Amino acid sequence: MADNTNQSSPLTVVLIGCGRVAEKHLKAISKLKGLELKAVVDVNPESAKRLLGSVKGFANVKIYNDYKLAIEEIKPSIVSVTVPSGLHFQIAKYAMENGSNLLLEKPMTMSVSEAREIFELSQKTGLKIAMGHIYRYLPIVGLVREDIAEGKYGKVTHGTIYVRWGHGEDYYSSAAWRGTWKSDGGALMNQTIHAIDLLVWLMGSEPEQASAMIAQRVRNIEAEDLGMAVLRLENGALAQIEGTTATIPSKHTAEFSVFCENGQLSMGLDSGKPHLNIFTVKPNGKTKKLNGYYIRKQLKEGGLFSYKCALNPHLGIYKDLQDSIISGKDPIADAYAGFSSVDTLLGIYKSAKEGKPVSLPLEDDFNSVDMTGFFN
Ligand SMILES: NC(=O)c1ccc[n+]([C@@H]2O[C@H](COP(=O)([O-])OP(=O)(O)OC[C@H]3O[C@@H](n4cnc5c(N)ncnc54)[C@H](O)[C@@H]3O)[C@@H](O)[C@H]2O)c1
Repeated sequence: MADNTNQSSPLTVVLIGCGRVAEKHLKAISKLKGLELKAVVDVNPESAKRLLGSVKGFANVKIYNDYKLAIEEIKPSIVSVTVPSGLHFQIAKYAMENGSNLLLEKPMTMSVSEAREIFELSQKTGLKIAMGHIYRYLPIVGLVREDIAEGKYGKVTHGTIYVRWGHGEDYYSSAAWRGTWKSDGGALMNQTIHAIDLLVWLMGSEPEQASAMIAQRVRNIEAEDLGMAVLRLENGALAQIEGTTATIPSKHTAEFSVFCENGQLSMGLDSGKPHLNIFTVKPNGKTKKLNGYYIRKQLKEGGLFSYKCALNPHLGIYKDLQDSIISGKDPIADAYAGFSSVDTLLGIYKSAKEGKPVSLPLEDDFNSVDMTGFFN
């Protein structure tokens, strides 16, 4: 197992999978003191070379094409898993069995039983997992969550998200795994799972029932390009979800809204531009906008770093994981978040498949490949 007790030496990192998202990881690592990228791994060495050339300061980092060899030789403190989703389980398991903490991209795994195994392994070993659930690391969301949890806005009634993250055929044909039930899933599993995670986290309760429909509208893929679902949470609140890649690719929008007895908040991104609207009702009945209050509070508590995370949330994820390994606290998007979001998402798929509501957490295993043939 990697020795993390000597805090004066950097935490070593091996990144596995040198594709699209990996560049965000390298940029984050390059900006943080106390992390040292020791090696990158890809079955395609050209991808590894391209990645190392794309971010300053990594020209001499070692390249492997076999993740097991890299983990065995380097014994890193952190393994970053940025391979296609269908490979997350085997690599995450191997890395933890060899003593590494994880920065694990979403979704944690493609089946409920695999996600449970990874979660339980982290509990058993004490190794930390920070999930690539970027939305939890955006400025202000953590502060709002605390206030909702402390009852500042009264009872949570409902929440909504839409993730309209259009991707054309060029995106889907750029890698054979994209849009397949085995390795990726569709718009819900890939583009929406971390947004569902944020909504449920903000609403402060666990999902107990899912009802859903999925559709294939315009993209030529195996899985869904459009999904809609309603969750009932244990606290009685309802959450409404829309996730799609069937919209115009140049107009990416994602929005989260939470409604409470005495307040409501909406935040999101519209073609890269953030927007925020937080309102409360004062005891005299007047409505007050709280944007300025939260912006100042975040600056006071998190400094400029918290706003830099808006541009690259992976910066916040690496810093959080680093702090967690050193202090022993759990990361903000921890192993449980990884497990629970996979369980919810697969519950949504199961409900769509069976045409009826399903209870959560799922009692039996469900795997994304159980959806094979759904649209045939
Ligand atoms: N959190 C986020 O914001 C975010 C954004 C994009 C992607 N992701 C997730 O990151 C993961 C990767 O997505 P991507 O778009 O970067 O994919 P990608 O296809 O661009 O890159 C994957 C890379 O993994 C490599 N690879 C495949 N099998 C391997 C193996 N056995 N060993 C080593 N390398 C291997 C491929 O050659 C490729 O270079 C997915 O799980 C995706 O859901 C997360």
